[in-house]
Amino acid sequence: MGRKLKVQAVAHLLETTVDSVRRYIEESGIEVERQETGPRTRQFSFDNVFDLASWRQSHRPKTKIKKRVISTIYAPKGGVGKTTIAANLACLFPLMGIKTLVIDLDFQANLT
Ligand SMILES: Nc1ncnc2c1ncn2[C@@H]1O[C@H](COP(=O)(O)OP(=O)(O)OP(=O)(O)O)[C@@H](O)[C@H]1O
Ligand SMILES: [Mg+2]
Repeated sequence: MGRKLKVQAVAHLLETTVDSVRRYIEESGIEVERQETGPRTRQFSFDNVFDLASWRQSHRPKTKIKKRVISTIYAPKGGVGKTTIAANLACLFPLMGIKTLVIDLDFQANLT
């Protein structure tokens, strides 16, 4: 079983309030597991968080300009954190609702 998050942590990741997260769940119909015993609090998987971020983005009022962000991480020096930055951005962008594709052109293929 993967690691689970509480609603407060999800609100923090999505930069919103706990109430908003609850509203997203209700409106999107995304299924979130509940604790089997005790207070039956919701236990979010990371997949749940990314699904909520993606749902929220598709339900925001559309802006007219089509946005396209291409981010390249480059540094000639080795071991300075290029791959680490790429991996972190690959998590942050989807949380912001940005569709993300990561292409690892490094022959070490660490990110892959
Ligand atoms: N902000 C940071 N603080 C501390 N350690 C870090 C940080 N960013 C990366 N590291 C560590 O530094 C090491 C090198 O990072 P990383 O592999 O991302 O560098 P790289 O530039 O992609 O290296 P390479 O040139 O070999 O591809 C890793 O062990 C990583 O965990
Ligand atoms: Mg690297």
